[in-house]
Parts: sequence; structure tokens; C-alpha cells
Amino acid sequence: MRLKDRVAIVTGGGRGIGKAFCAGLASEGARVVVADINMESASATAKELEQQGKEVIAVKTDVSDEKSTLGMAEKAVERFGGIDILVNNAAFFTPLGLGKTWDKVDVEEWDKVMSVNLRGLFLCSRAVFPHMLARGKGKIINISSTTAYRGLVRGIHYVTSKAGVLGFTRALSRELAGKNINVNSIAPGLTLSEGVVAGGGFVTQEDWAKMRTLRCSQKDLYPKDMVGAMIFLASDESGSVYGQTIVVDGGMVFV
Ligand SMILES: NC(=O)c1ccc[n+]([C@@H]2O[C@H](COP(=O)([O-])OP(=O)(O)OC[C@H]3O[C@@H](n4cnc5c(N)ncnc54)[C@H](O)[C@@H]3O)[C@@H](O)[C@H]2O)c1
Repeated sequence: MRLKDRVAIVTGGGRGIGKAFCAGLASEGARVVVADINMESASATAKELEQQGKEVIAVKTDVSDEKSTLGMAEKAVERFGGIDILVNNAAFFTPLGLGKTWDKVDVEEWDKVMSVNLRGLFLCSRAVFPHMLARGKGKIINISSTTAYRGLVRGIHYVTSKAGVLGFTRALSRELAGKNINVNSIAPGLTLSEGVVAGGGFVTQEDWAKMRTLRCSQKDLYPKDMVGAMIFLASDESGSVYGQTIVVDGGMVFV
């Protein structure tokens, strides 16, 4: 087990890719905090893992709210005694459905996307920082998207936010490398999380099929396919990796 007794927080861990991250971390021996604005799904994920004998808690968290992120970190420390890993996975993503052309996006929606997808990264990272300093080490893993590289029609705010994740990763990496904290990110390609299957993710079923043909592997991607890269970035094996982004997309975008 590569993460035995490490304490990991996964934001947006209640469902989709975040849920797969929680399961992957727990199966490598980590104690997991499922932090999600949707407490019902966070509790269900925690319960499912507890039933498999894993150490997990669910914490209601709004990543865009500073007080809430501080509470998330406090609860993790209270229950498990520290924090080693933060996976910044929560995003305002699938509720955007098929999206709107850039000129139809209203200011409220723009601000909502930025507040969750970017301010959330900043606030969650800052909330766990003192606890990683206390440990003398840490791992922060941010979830971007291949849309940051290839663009997207009808998702101007989302793509902008996911490109921001790359900048945030590089800048924070430089700030924290001297503190023995690695900051890296993962850029998934279109992944069939339950939210995407239900009509989120900016693509129609026709688009999915087209996208598959553009991949080296020609296969659909599922949340579990993102877990291996995340475990690598959370483990000691990535100790010399700083500010990088691993693209996991079946071989469509090469960076
Ligand atoms: N699925 C894809 O095709 C894909 C592709 C590239 C990148 N991504 C990224 O991967 C991540 C997960 O994607 P998904 O498909 O599982 O998304 P999803 O929309 O299904 O799940 C997002 C999770 O985040 C939670 N959340 C939303 N706002 C929150 C907030 N303010 N505070 C805390 N939690 C909040 C939701 O409750 C939900 O559990 C996102 O960052 C997304 O941008 C997904």
C-alpha cells in the first residue's frame, strides 16, 4: 500500500471522478475525507467505503467559501490528526449541461464557474497549507481538463477556469517546493462520469463518438481511469515532480 495512513481530502468526492479518487486513495491505505457541497452524495460515498473497512468521513464543504474550507481542514485534522494530500477536484461542471455560446454566458454564471473552479483551489489549498507545514510535507493535486489545451465551443468560462488551474499549479508549485509540498495537476479528457452520462460535459452522444475516434486508444474513459495518475502524484514516487500536468485522455492531446 503506497499511501498507508496518509490523510487525504478529495473535494467534490461525492460522485463521478472525485468518488473514484476517494476509492483509489482508500484502497492504497489512505484515510479519506469526502468533501462535497452535496452532503447526501458525500455521505453515501463515505458509507460505501466504510462498509469495505476503510477509514472515511464525509464533510459538507463549499469550496468557494473560505469559512467552509477552513472547517473542512479542521474536521480532517480533528478526526485523523493531520493532512497529507489534497485533491482539488470539485468544479462547477456537469450542471452546465451542453453550455452556451460565449456571448450568451451571463455574468452570474461566469462568476459562479470562477468561484468554484478557481477560487475553490486557492481557498482549499490555503486551508490545508498550515497542516502540511506541520507535517513537513504534502501533495496538492489539481484537476484541470484537456479543454484547457484544445478549447471548446460553448464553454468559455469553464475552459478559462481549467486553463487557470494550470497556471495556479505552476505558480503554487514554485511557492511550495521549498516546503516539501508537491503541486501538480491532471488533465482528464472527456470521461463518462455519471454527470456526463446524464447530459453534462458540453457534449452530445454524437460528439462522444467522434471524440473516441480521435483517441489513440479509441476507447471511452471512465472515472476509474483517472485514478492511477492521481495515486502516482499523491505518493512518494512523484517526489521530484513539480508543477506538471499529466494528461489522461486516451491519447488525443499531446503536451
Ligand atoms: N468528466 C469529464 O469528462 C471531465 C473531463 C475533464 C475534467 N473533468 C474535471 O474532473 C472533475 C470531476 O468531474 P466530474 O465529471 O466527476 O464532475 P461532476 O460535476 O459530476 O462532479 C462534481 C462534484 O463536485 C461537487 N461540487 C460542485 N460544486 C462544489 C462546491 N462549491 N464545493 C464542493 N463541492 C462541489 C459536486 O457536488 C459533485 O460531487 C471536475 O474538476 C471536472 O472539471 C471532468
